[in-house]
Amino acid sequence: MKIVFATNNAHKLREVARELGDSYTLLTPRDCGVTEDIPENEPTLEGNALAKARYIRSRTGLDCFADDTGLEVDALGGEPGVRSARYATDGHDDEANKRLLLERMASVDDRSARFRTAIALIAGDEEILFEGVVRGAISREEMGSNGFGYDPIFIPEGFDRSFAQMTDDEKNAVSHRGRAVRKLVDYLRKR
Ligand code: IMP
Repeated sequence: MKIVFATNNAHKLREVARELGDSYTLLTPRDCGVTEDIPENEPTLEGNALAKARYIRSRTGLDCFADDTGLEVDALGGEPGVRSARYATDGHDDEANKRLLLERMASVDDRSARFRTAIALIAGDEEILFEGVVRGAISREEMGSNGFGYDPIFIPEGFDRSFAQMTDDEKNAVSHRGRAVRKLVDYLRKR
């Protein structure tokens, strides 16, 4: 069965493809001729995930899902949250985002944070939301070079390594997106 994942992020695609297994052919927007940026201007992760999924559905007519992720830092009142991608600049500048977050946390002792992912699935005429959360801490400096985004500065609970010091499988087993995707996959299998 074909299903479109509303992302062109190669890291995310790889993470999700591993969980989804062989019963689905995972397509990207580009595979379906959708090359423009998909709008994500909603005030919540759930709103953005739904908006992206609805956009892909209207352009392709296929079953699809979209995710939106935020890094929610306790000492910053949940920031950057839904603004995680555009924290430092209007662009999608991972380096600048990490730098700004480390700067804002420079004199903060409470390092606790969580990654939260919302996934919106449109299958047939149903729209369903799934959530995945992982708690952890913001490191004092960058650690490791795997992964993407804020991975080098996030240490998941129970570990002394950042996501960027883990293999894909290690990260997937505990990560926000891994948890949300496993709920999605369970749902798809039972359908
Ligand atoms: P989006 O879900 O692609 O909009 O991501 C929002 C922001 O969170 C972007 O800055 C991403 O780089 C970052 N992000 C999303 N997922 C992850 C992850 O698994 N690890 C680290 N950063 C992430």
